[in-house]
Amino acid sequence: KEKKVFRIAIDGPSASGKSTISKYLSEILAIDYLDTGAMYRAITFYLLENGYSLTDENEIEKGIKKIILKYDNNNIIINNKILKDELRTEVVTKNVSLISSYSSVRSKLVNIQREIAKKNSIILDGRDIGTVVLPNAEYKFFLVADPEVRARRRLKDKNSRLNMTFDEIVEDIKRRDYLDSTRAISPLKKAEDAIVIDSSKLTINEVVENILKSIRGI
Ligand code: DC
Repeated sequence: KEKKVFRIAIDGPSASGKSTISKYLSEILAIDYLDTGAMYRAITFYLLENGYSLTDENEIEKGIKKIILKYDNNNIIINNKILKDELRTEVVTKNVSLISSYSSVRSKLVNIQREIAKKNSIILDGRDIGTVVLPNAEYKFFLVADPEVRARRRLKDKNSRLNMTFDEIVEDIKRRDYLDSTRAISPLKKAEDAIVIDSSKLTINEVVENILKSIRGI
């Protein structure tokens, strides 16, 4: 008997809680989880490491052809190197919006993401999952939260290794919201059939409960 495969799309702005929520959900539902933001970060890290001029779209289009990106056991692997903490540094965070605006970068990653999502039931978190990557996903959610709430979460997040004050983080979040939602290709946008969850006043558990309720239809 064939098992039923389903996909959950979780989109939303930076620091809206997508990856924390997605990790919990994937444990509860015992299905895979793909953090697509980490893929854009991995490409950005690679280009910085290899001395690319990040504004030279033509060079970058050539450069990313040399990248073999794999996803294994929740690890992003670029040309056989596992990337973890490197993906959360300030310089990567500062430049990832620019890199993710390039069409060559997006089409490469969207293809890989669709390929991964074919195999098993999976949760993908990102900006364009419900709109572009998996428009037919069985479940779609759009997480939002006030910029100040997101900045506070980012400050608390030990993984985000930022050397910024609270006000600087709020500004950076607003700047990325603006860049992500106004870029020409696949901007951050709620899919028409996505359910919006504002997590500003909710705990992680409450958001997860909300999502589980709508998946189970109760
Ligand atoms: O979720 P995150 O903060 O790790 O994402 C990093 C950047 O990658 C974010 O600024 C926008 C981009 N991104 C994207 O363009 N499309 C996605 N599906 C995921 C992330």
